[in-house]
Amino acid sequence: MRNLAKGGNVCLQLGDVYIKGSPAKSTYIHELIVDLKRRLGLFYMNTITWRSNKPPGPIAWSAKKRIQCHDAAEYCIWFSNDPEHCIANNQRELEPHTEKHLQLIARGGENRTAINGDGAYRIKPGSYGKPTAGRIMRNVLEISNVCASQRAYKRRAKELGLVPHGATMPLALARKLVRFLSDVGQLCVDPLGGSLTTGLACELEGRPWIATDVVFDYIRGAAERFTEFEGFELALDVL
Ligand SMILES: C[S@@+](CC[C@H](N)C(=O)[O-])C[C@H]1O[C@@H](n2cnc3c(N)ncnc32)[C@H](O)[C@@H]1O
Repeated sequence: MRNLAKGGNVCLQLGDVYIKGSPAKSTYIHELIVDLKRRLGLFYMNTITWRSNKPPGPIAWSAKKRIQCHDAAEYCIWFSNDPEHCIANNQRELEPHTEKHLQLIARGGENRTAINGDGAYRIKPGSYGKPTAGRIMRNVLEISNVCASQRAYKRRAKELGLVPHGATMPLALARKLVRFLSDVGQLCVDPLGGSLTTGLACELEGRPWIATDVVFDYIRGAAERFTEFEGFELALDVL
């Protein structure tokens, strides 16, 4: 953490786990958020919820015992060491406006006056009428976990007789977060690299990167994702 740039970000992609033998969830994510602030001084910025089309579960508690909901999301828990100087920038990750919003802009914005129930925001004639480059991302992302890049990686790893990674994230998710949380040219580090999805996202988005993993097969298989990039080289002792 000492080496994290001022205003740098840490993003952990985590999923819920259940207490063994129980339909209750572990509170490890909540405890982690508190601990990272207390021990490392990392400020909690946001939870970006990733809704995917993963299979429903936990079957034992949802479909069998009928106690729990089906889980449909995982979480990208985002921290910064200096929130006021944070290098995240939502303008790097603008989404297209909805058709409805484009029509509102074309009409010159709202033509009514209203105050919502708790007074948190007011609408006046012209509100939301200013043309902008795009829609600011929300903290819920809908991204399929079916990913062509991951499929190709797994196929290639098997061809080489390597164990493919079983818990990869889709490249589209990694690219979005890399664009949002860092600028072109800024170093990104993924110490739990797995199939090097974050590395590949950085390579494609113009960020230098470093990644490690404790499992050799993952890193060796993931190296195949980079063979087309300029400067690719495998150390001789892993050929
Ligand atoms: C959830 S996976 C990351 C998957 C990655 N985001 C991807 O898309 O492929 C977490 C990785 O952390 C690695 N890991 C766990 N403990 C580690 C450690 N102490 N040092 C390095 N890597 C570790 C595991 O081998 C695993 O590949």
